[in-house]
Amino acid sequence: MWGAVVLQGCNGEYPQSALHPSSDFATRLDDLFDQIFWWAVGVFVVVEAVLLYTIIRFRAGPGKRRPKEIHGNVALEIGWTLAPALILVAIAIPTVQTIFIVDRPTDDENALVIEVIGRQWWWEFRYPELGIVTANEAHVPVGRTVDLRLRSADVLHSFWVPRLGGKRDLVPGHENHLWFRPDSVGVFWGQCAEYCGTAHALMGMRVIVDEPADFDAWAELNAGDAVPITDPEARAGRGVFMANACIGCHVVRGSPVVGGNFGPDLTHFGGRLTVGAGILDNTRENLIRWLDATQHVKPGSLMPEVDLTDEQIAQLAAYLLALR
Ligand code: CUA
Repeated sequence: MWGAVVLQGCNGEYPQSALHPSSDFATRLDDLFDQIFWWAVGVFVVVEAVLLYTIIRFRAGPGKRRPKEIHGNVALEIGWTLAPALILVAIAIPTVQTIFIVDRPTDDENALVIEVIGRQWWWEFRYPELGIVTANEAHVPVGRTVDLRLRSADVLHSFWVPRLGGKRDLVPGHENHLWFRPDSVGVFWGQCAEYCGTAHALMGMRVIVDEPADFDAWAELNAGDAVPITDPEARAGRGVFMANACIGCHVVRGSPVVGGNFGPDLTHFGGRLTVGAGILDNTRENLIRWLDATQHVKPGSLMPEVDLTDEQIAQLAAYLLALR
């Protein structure tokens, strides 16, 4: 059974495993982990071997005498002082090298700049060169360096997408940098890794690594206004959205009313994979649940529960899903 448990850890079904790197940054960290792991295995084997030998060889029993006590074996003293020190040096050198490499700014002039703003309790992503503002899901093209500029709108957060990069803190009043080059297409899970208040554990995100052509299509769509709403239920939902508190905190570009920017930009919400900062799949059922019982789904969320009828909530969900 334990074999199965151990193997479970290796089969790649855990979306937030740092042991399955998919970028240069994450690969460096994984390489470092491997080196330290094998040093630890070596130490474990030597210590356990000596321990087992001693237990078996000097076991108490009839006719056995206590081993001779010795004191101050100079060669042994030097040996077991020097060996751990050398192992620590062997670990420290690649560790410090890796820290310097991942900490310096990128020198890739073709890097895609993304501003990441940590907020209680969601992520804002801005692409200044492309005119995109989105939330909780960042799209990036495979094989191109991503240059993240990390800030916070309120308290300390920490950007962490284990298979791509991080952790790195988002600090109020200070900009941090983080860069990585994703090497495979896919959806990568991440989350806030610094305690930031009530809903810290529900401050998730996705980084979606696309083929370059798919990324370009996404970027073109997301730089524009929301698509016109034609479906009658969705149009009714737009009325609910504009007439209630929603528009006070959320921007939907292209709307007649300019929204507040306290909450996530919802201009292309319908194209997102998740709702509530990575905590629920973006389906009609989940969206209705979210709108109906926000504080139950995500306790502490700064989105208030607006008193709406079931019909209004269904209309609102239809509207949000139609925002492509
Ligand atoms: Cu944001 Cu923890």
